[in-house]
Amino acid sequence: MSRLAARTSRIATSPTMKVSATVDRLKREGIAVLDLGAGEPDFPTPEAISAAGHAAIDQAFTKYTPVGGTLDLKRAVVQRYAADYGVRYQESQVIITAGGKQALYNTALALFGPGDEVILHTPGWPTLTEQVKLADATPVFVRLSPEDGFAITAAPFVAAITPRTRGIVLNSPCNPTGAIITEAELTRLAQEAARRDIWIVIDLCYEKLIFEPLPHNLPRVLETHCPGLGIICGSASKAYAMTGWRCGWTIAPPSVIAAENALQSHATSNVASITQRAALAALTGSQQVVDVMRREYQRRRDAVHEWLTRDGYFTAALPAATFYLFLDVSRLLSADGLPTANDVARALLDEVRVAVTPGEAFDAPGYIRISFATSLDILREGSDRLIAFARQRVSAPAAGS
Ligand SMILES: Cc1ncc(COP(=O)(O)O)c(C=O)c1O
Repeated sequence: MSRLAARTSRIATSPTMKVSATVDRLKREGIAVLDLGAGEPDFPTPEAISAAGHAAIDQAFTKYTPVGGTLDLKRAVVQRYAADYGVRYQESQVIITAGGKQALYNTALALFGPGDEVILHTPGWPTLTEQVKLADATPVFVRLSPEDGFAITAAPFVAAITPRTRGIVLNSPCNPTGAIITEAELTRLAQEAARRDIWIVIDLCYEKLIFEPLPHNLPRVLETHCPGLGIICGSASKAYAMTGWRCGWTIAPPSVIAAENALQSHATSNVASITQRAALAALTGSQQVVDVMRREYQRRRDAVHEWLTRDGYFTAALPAATFYLFLDVSRLLSADGLPTANDVARALLDEVRVAVTPGEAFDAPGYIRISFATSLDILREGSDRLIAFARQRVSAPAAGS
């Protein structure tokens, strides 16, 4: 057999997807596992959205569409962002992609190349880094600090800029920490990017899952402070419980969209026509379905945070957004017991049959990610098992906690 291309050895398979694959395998083997690893909504796709997909099939809307998506859907994206953020994009600034993942991948390939440095944050979603590497650019990391809840602030990014910096990639709300960047911090960063002619890419895939009424009008900040350099990648996956449909979008200057269209035309062509009709219904229909899901996530967040942190074995900031709790498991670690969070995750699966995602997946050793995109019953049982597991390994909870 001949050899594989060098790029395949530079990247790792998605560690978050590995957890899902393990859970699936165990379930197939008849082993019951409580899955707190899932990175997707447990809700079904709302009925009106699925109905639009059915109607697309019934109406034989099953052929190629334009590579970058139907005009209707691009217009719906423009109108959604106008309604949500008061920003005015043109259809020529939008491409419809196979999930936020392809939106981000197209963007990395369109903007970055050999010799370029791209600044990202850790903890962070691993795909963002691997995509930069696939573009043959060099990832540079800003380490967010647990002391301030992993807040994403401008200063460390500005400090990391060099003459080779071509881009900054942010994920807000952030998977896995649930933190968001404030408008004031993004303003600082956007002004600096404008001064230095650097792209700012924002992964907004969790934009609809912010719990507190926190200002998060990042599209407006980019438009105001670094026009022509701001790129937004969004997704129907998490907001509308549409992970399997595969629909996302990039919003960017027309020249970037033209480049992404060219790339996509030789890779996947258009997103499934049926999916596009469903996404059209999602974006143009009542947004109450999103509110209902968000309120339920918030109820679960409050409950699982309380259950897991009250005994002092684990600590975690209350996430402002997403459906993840990022749990500090350092009290469980010891050189001769469980040296790493990876070991904790493995032991949790082996001993108490709870699947979680180790912090190593997000370049954050000492943590595990708990997904609360599952029922309160499962969260209750999972929390009990985690506490029982911790009690066996830690002599006494931290004083005062
Ligand atoms: C931070 C982040 N961005 C983007 C995505 C992409 O999701 P999708 O491709 O389903 O839109 C995910 C999925 O888990 C994610 O966690």
